[in-house]
Amino acid sequence: MPPADILRTLLSIEIPIIQAPMILQAPLVPLAAAVSNAGGMGSLGCAEMPVEELQQRISELRSATPKPFNLNFFLHQEPRYDPDLDLEIRNLIQPFYNKNGLDAPRDASSTDLETFNDDKLAILVEERPSMVSFHFGCPRRPVLDALHAVGIVTAATATTVREAIALQEAGVMIVVAQGWEAGGHRGSFASNFEDTGIGTLALVPQIVDAVDVPVIAAGGIGDGRAIAASRALGASGVWMGTAFLSCLEAPITALHRKALSSAGDEDTHLSRAFSGRPCRARQTPYSQHMARTRPRLQDFPLMYNYSGPLKSFGIDTDNLDFQFLLYGQAAALNREMTAAQLIEKLTSETATVIAQMGAWDRAV
Ligand SMILES: Cc1cc2nc3c(=O)[nH]c(=O)nc-3n(C[C@H](O)[C@H](O)[C@H](O)COP(=O)(O)O)c2cc1C
Repeated sequence: MPPADILRTLLSIEIPIIQAPMILQAPLVPLAAAVSNAGGMGSLGCAEMPVEELQQRISELRSATPKPFNLNFFLHQEPRYDPDLDLEIRNLIQPFYNKNGLDAPRDASSTDLETFNDDKLAILVEERPSMVSFHFGCPRRPVLDALHAVGIVTAATATTVREAIALQEAGVMIVVAQGWEAGGHRGSFASNFEDTGIGTLALVPQIVDAVDVPVIAAGGIGDGRAIAASRALGASGVWMGTAFLSCLEAPITALHRKALSSAGDEDTHLSRAFSGRPCRARQTPYSQHMARTRPRLQDFPLMYNYSGPLKSFGIDTDNLDFQFLLYGQAAALNREMTAAQLIEKLTSETATVIAQMGAWDRAV
């Protein structure tokens, strides 16, 4: 069976395009529902939701679509707060606060962002979404067993072949191969993630060769040309984040939309400065300063405590230089339209490219 058909059957979807889970200012329910209703698969980034909210969002999504959807969680380690580092980081970032008349960041030793836990697992087992995906780690066997026992398909992100093999050995059903181009946080967990930046074109075929489970390509996929290329590399489907950010249903800020509408290939870089984990976002004076000085940082997600007030200041003053705007290297390909229109456009572009390539082959 062609790889795309394997994924279609496994997920009960018509079009093997998955809208990547993304944590934004507001929940992604309308966008995810629109993608699922259009025949692809919508996703909700649930990592920051307390259990009560998780249950509420699932029921909102169920009311908005009868189709399959994906719920996504982080598997990061509990952070270890280092009081010595606190002073170092405060000294380093104080100029940004002084210059803008902002109060110093609040106590940075704690976080509300819990890693995946048994309470969330219990809700998933009860609610039975079609798919559950994980970022930043390899789910434990009992978690996978519990999800699989009620018919939930599992997926997780790999950024190297080594991580993909670890996910398959753990029992994960689908590997999301996330290339260096991808917007948002790198899902790395077994590799030195700042030194192993493997691009989507190199990563996908190597993971396809290394594992037997379906592989979904992610990172820098912005139009039908890249979808056709992913198919050629052996991917069963595509996992697109940045491209869906410009959809009319995406709950992004006016500033984020403005940045995307004039985005270029050199806008972003990978920085740990905002959250403590490598994340592809638009470059800012703060992230460039941190990249130059390469300080030691607190664990994810404690760094949000230091960068948070700057971000709020950026929102209040409509200033792009203080935003934490996540998007990938292919953002310049984005188009503003509804999610259904985008899915239709991507599908027809892919078919055109594949047909054109067939014609070129015959000409050779
Ligand atoms: C704004 C934004 C937020 C993201 N949040 C998450 C998330 O919560 N969970 C996750 O697994 N991936 C997240 N990602 C990464 C995506 O899953 C995916 O790997 C990435 O968007 C693919 O690259 P692309 O943006 O070039 O399409 C996020 C990406 C973006 C752009």
